[in-house]
Amino acid sequence: MHILLLGRGKTGSLVAQIAQERRHHIEIAGTKENAGQAALTPEKLAAVEVVIDFTTPHCAIANIEACIRNGKNTVVGTTGWYGELDHVRRLVEEHNTGFLYAANFSIGINLFLDVARTSAAALRHDYSGQIFERHHAHKKDAPSGTALELQRAVHEASGSTDNLEITSFREGDVVGMHELVFESDNDRIYLCHDAKSRRAFAVGAVLAAEWVAGRKGFYNFKDVWQEL
Ligand SMILES: NC(=O)c1ccc[n+]([C@@H]2O[C@H](COP(=O)([O-])OP(=O)(O)OC[C@H]3O[C@@H](n4cnc5c(N)ncnc54)[C@H](OP(=O)(O)O)[C@@H]3O)[C@@H](O)[C@H]2O)c1
Repeated sequence: MHILLLGRGKTGSLVAQIAQERRHHIEIAGTKENAGQAALTPEKLAAVEVVIDFTTPHCAIANIEACIRNGKNTVVGTTGWYGELDHVRRLVEEHNTGFLYAANFSIGINLFLDVARTSAAALRHDYSGQIFERHHAHKKDAPSGTALELQRAVHEASGSTDNLEITSFREGDVVGMHELVFESDNDRIYLCHDAKSRRAFAVGAVLAAEWVAGRKGFYNFKDVWQEL
C-alpha cells in the first residue's frame, strides 16, 4: 500500500519501521511538511491509499477533516480530540470514506480489555475491584488513558453504579503496566498487562491501515481487532 504517515515522533517512527517491514510504501510528513495541512491537498493525496495520524491533539482534527474531505481512508492513533467524534462520524458518512481510530492500537491491550469486561461479573458476586497503573517517570498525564478505558470497560460490563478506584505510579522507565485486581473474603484475582515496548501500538496501527484500505465506514479498533 501507499501510506502517508503524519508525525515522526516516538510512535510515528515505529509505525514507519513496521510499515516498511511489511513492504508498504511509506511517505512521512512532520510539523514542517504539514504546516497548515500542506501535505493533505488533493494533489499530494492523489496516490495515497491510507493516511495514518500519530501527531498531537491540537492538529489532529484539522488533519482528519482534510483527509476525509479529500476522500482518503484514515487511521488515527492521536488522542485528545474525542469531543469531536460525532462531527467526524458525520463527515465520514457524508464523504463515504473509511475511518478507524483507537486510543490504544495494541492487540494485547484490546485483548486485556475484553478479558476485563468478562471479569467485571465479579462485581456482582461480592468482589471489590481496583486498578493500578505504572508508567515511566516522564509521563505527564495520570491516570493513563488506558486505565480510564479499563475503568470504563468494567463499569459498562458490570452495570455497577460506582467506578473502580485507579492508583497511578510514575517510576523509572516502565513502558506501561496495568493491573486489575478483584478481591472477596475468600480469594483474590489478579489480571495484568505489562507492555515491553511501544512497538505493539505501531504493529496494531499498520494492521489497522491494511484492514481499513478500501473499506467505507466509521470504526473503533476495539470492534475490529479480532478480524485482523
Ligand atoms: N492509539 C495508540 O495506540 C497510541 C499509542 C501511542 C501514542 N498515541 C498518541 O499518539 C500521539 C503521538 O504520540 P507520540 O508519543 O508519538 O508523540 P510525539 O513523540 O510527541 O510525536 C508527535 C509528532 O507529531 C508531529 N506533528 C505535530 N504537528 C504535526 C502536524 N501538523 N503534521 C504532522 N506532524 C505533526 C511532530 O513532528 P515533528 O517531529 O516533525 O515536529 C511530533 O514528532 C499522541 O496523541 C499520543 O497520545 C496513541
